[in-house]
Amino acid sequence: MRRTALLSQVLAVNTLLVVGTVFAASVAARLDLGEAAGTRQFLVLVAAILATLLANNFIMRRRFAPLESLTRTMECVDLTIPGMRAQHQDGESADITRLRQAFNLMLARLESERTGSATAVLRAQEAERARVARDLHDEVNQALAAVSLRLAATAEHAPPEFAEELAETQRLAGQAMQELLGLARELRPAALDDHGLLPALRTQVRLFGERWSIPAHFAADGTRPLLGEFEQLVVYRVVQEALSNIARHAQAKKVKVTVLGCNGTQVKVSISDDGVGLSPDRGRDGGSGLVGMRERALLAGGRLEVVPTPGGGTTVELTVRARGTGAS
Ligand SMILES: Nc1ncnc2c1ncn2[C@@H]1O[C@H](COP(=O)(O)OP(=O)(O)OP(=O)(O)O)[C@@H](O)[C@H]1O
Ligand SMILES: [Mg+2]
Repeated sequence: MRRTALLSQVLAVNTLLVVGTVFAASVAARLDLGEAAGTRQFLVLVAAILATLLANNFIMRRRFAPLESLTRTMECVDLTIPGMRAQHQDGESADITRLRQAFNLMLARLESERTGSATAVLRAQEAERARVARDLHDEVNQALAAVSLRLAATAEHAPPEFAEELAETQRLAGQAMQELLGLARELRPAALDDHGLLPALRTQVRLFGERWSIPAHFAADGTRPLLGEFEQLVVYRVVQEALSNIARHAQAKKVKVTVLGCNGTQVKVSISDDGVGLSPDRGRDGGSGLVGMRERALLAGGRLEVVPTPGGGTTVELTVRARGTGAS
């Protein structure tokens, strides 16, 4: 059932009250509509009623406008765009001010809780990835290396009819080791821990180019971005997802990744391709990649924009907060 708006209800009640009161007053005053004076009085009453109702309508609408505006803000608040707040309205009454302040406080609390829990989830996810990558590297890869060595030792003394089979098995073991290391690298880039963000990104871009046979160029502006561990991971993951999108969707002929440690307070990373560009209906069939990138950027106190590359293609621009820069 459709409910009537509070403003309409108040206006209806006021109308009933005014008309009822005037009707009761005219009955009490024994208004005689048969006489000219009575008719005149009646018309004055009708005009007074209409004027009262119009004034009432006007005043009520003005009084309810701040509530209407607050409701509209509440309807369009999006927690993935932090910082949205209901603004003070002219003619706001004390209770609406209280409601607005309570709403803004609730938003601030929700934003901070959301940021806290999303950061915790991301950190836990990264820690788990690091653990799995370590296990893959230390346990499974070591076991495969041992298998490979034993195969090599067996091949030396094996009868010639088994030589080809053993060589093929050795080749497969070697291939499995390579794939495993690639997987471990994707799960947790050791280069990030060992050499820092820029070398890790450079390696990532080079491996991307080799894997997909797309010329991929990496450039940094000579300053070394001073980012926290979490922010570095965010940058690395965003570049990873953007490159994966390029490989899957862009049909690009070349790719460029640039890191600008710019002005000491923020680091800008851009990943651009010259491919087909974003289709307008990407929201409908798209996955969670772009949303995840935005979310990560937000948690690192930054922002992410996806814009068309001049001349065709797509550019992902990530800006994150830095602690300063140093010479590279
Ligand atoms: N570089 C790009 N060039 C062209 N289209 C792109 C590019 N990056 C993203 N898109 C479009 O945007 C959509 C959404 O990307 P998103 O990363 O969110 O999802 P996905 O890659 O389809 O799935 P997922 O990342 O969850 O595995 C893609 O389906 C694709 O149509
Ligand atoms: Mg994707």
